[in-house]
Amino acid sequence: MAGEIEFPVEGISDGEIAIRIHASSDIPAIVAACQDPEIPRWTRVPDHYEETEARGWLEQESLGRSLGELLGLVVVDPVDGRLLGSVGIVHLDPQEGRCELGYWVAREARGRGLATRAVRMLSAWIFDNLSADRIEIHAEPDNTASRRVAERAGFTFEGVLRSYFVNKGVRRDAATYSLLRGELR
Ligand SMILES: CC(C)(COP(=O)(O)OP(=O)(O)OC[C@H]1O[C@@H](n2cnc3c(N)ncnc32)[C@H](O)[C@@H]1OP(=O)(O)O)[C@@H](O)C(=O)NCCC(=O)NCCS
Repeated sequence: MAGEIEFPVEGISDGEIAIRIHASSDIPAIVAACQDPEIPRWTRVPDHYEETEARGWLEQESLGRSLGELLGLVVVDPVDGRLLGSVGIVHLDPQEGRCELGYWVAREARGRGLATRAVRMLSAWIFDNLSADRIEIHAEPDNTASRRVAERAGFTFEGVLRSYFVNKGVRRDAATYSLLRGELR
């Protein structure tokens, strides 16, 4: 079993955004953001998302972090603490030195490069602190915004994996991107 993922308690920031481990006080803002149908459409966030689902997600992420498998973070405004989105490791395989990222941004905060910035920050932290040499992003082929995030963050498109994962009972293709240690510019 891998050890706990130790992300700094104070979070990390580049001045524009901060990313930190979520707290139960984030739940109302997470629930509000996840009412936007674009989030459940493209992510594993359930269609019906209320406080119970958010609390369950936080508990699952805490357990996953302690097992060294998951890292769920919120993206916040470093000045006023407002929740802007979420970024995290949705799967970590320490044996293979490989992990996968997931993310969403609250509707009103989109189009300002926040997802790209958060992915780059988390990728840098991963290469500096975890035994991962390959970071992956899997987006559905029609999810143009997410694919642009991967490209703008410096990931390389490797192809479409057919029928790769199941979301909400439906098998889906995955446009697959990777970033290797040393490639972050
Ligand atoms: C994908 C998502 C996180 C992007 O967040 P964001 O902070 O707006 O992303 P950025 O501002 O970094 O923009 C990245 C690129 O996507 C483009 N983009 C944003 N929304 C778009 C849309 N609806 N259609 C096409 N391109 C879009 C931006 O123009 C930018 O590309 P550019 O550099 O060519 O201009 C956000 O749209 C979202 O939360 N979507 C729903 C959840 C989701 O899809 N998560 C990813 C699952 S794999």
